[in-house]
Amino acid sequence: MERVHVSNHPLILHKLSLLRDEKTKPKKFRELVRELAILLAYEATADLALEPVDVVTPMGETQGYTLKEKIGLVPILRAGLGMVEGIWEMMPGAEVWHIGLYRDERTLRPVEYYNKLPVDPTVQVCLILDPMLATGGSAVATTNILKKWGAQRIKFVGIIAAPEGIKALTEAHPDVDIHVAAVDDHLNEIGYIVPGLGDAGDRQFGTG
Ligand code: PRP
Ligand code: URA
Repeated sequence: MERVHVSNHPLILHKLSLLRDEKTKPKKFRELVRELAILLAYEATADLALEPVDVVTPMGETQGYTLKEKIGLVPILRAGLGMVEGIWEMMPGAEVWHIGLYRDERTLRPVEYYNKLPVDPTVQVCLILDPMLATGGSAVATTNILKKWGAQRIKFVGIIAAPEGIKALTEAHPDVDIHVAAVDDHLNEIGYIVPGLGDAGDRQFGTG
C-alpha cells in the first residue's frame, strides 16, 4: 500500500469535514472541492521532475528550476470538473483532457461517453481528478484509457475513497499513486461511500 497516500494535513481535514456536512450548499461545496484539490495536488506533485534553468534577477544570476515533464489534468466528468480550475492555476502549463464516464445505476459499471484524446500522447504525467473512488470502476477505466494512450506516469487525486475502490485500483494498476483526504468505512448496497458526502456531482451542480 505504499502508493496510497491519505493526507493528514490539518487544512485538508478541516475542509473535508465542512465538505461532508449535509448542510453545506453547492456554492460552498464547490469552493471546498476547489481548495481541497489544490492542497491534495500539492502533495501529489511533490515528486515531479525538475530541470535546472539559468535565472537573471535584478541583482545577478542564479540557478533555478523548471518543471521537466508535461502534465495532463484528467477530470472524470462530471464531479472531477470542480477539481480542475484551482490546480490549473498552480500549473498553468498543464493540458486538460476530459474523460466522460457515468456509473450504470444497476451494475455500477462505468459507461464511457466522452473521450477526445488525440492518437498520440501529449503529456508525460497524468493526474486523474475525481472526488470519489467508490467501487473504483471509473478510476480503473480511466487509467486503462490513459495507459492505452501512452501516458508514462499516472496519479489518482481524489477526496474520499472506499476501501473497495482502493483495492480495485491498486490491484488493476499497482503503479498508480493514489492521493486522497480520507479512506472511509465501506460502500452501501447502492455503491455509495459511507459516511462519504453523498453524491459529489449532485452536490456541486445542485442537481440532487
Ligand atoms: C461518481 C464519481 C465517480 C464515480 C465513482 O460519478 O464522481 O466518477 O461515481 O464511482 P466508482 O468508483 O464506483 O466508479 P457518477 O457516475 O455519479 O457521475 P457524475 O459525476 O456525472 O454524477
Ligand atoms: N459517487 C458519488 O458521488 N458518491 C459516492 O459515495 C459514490 C460514488
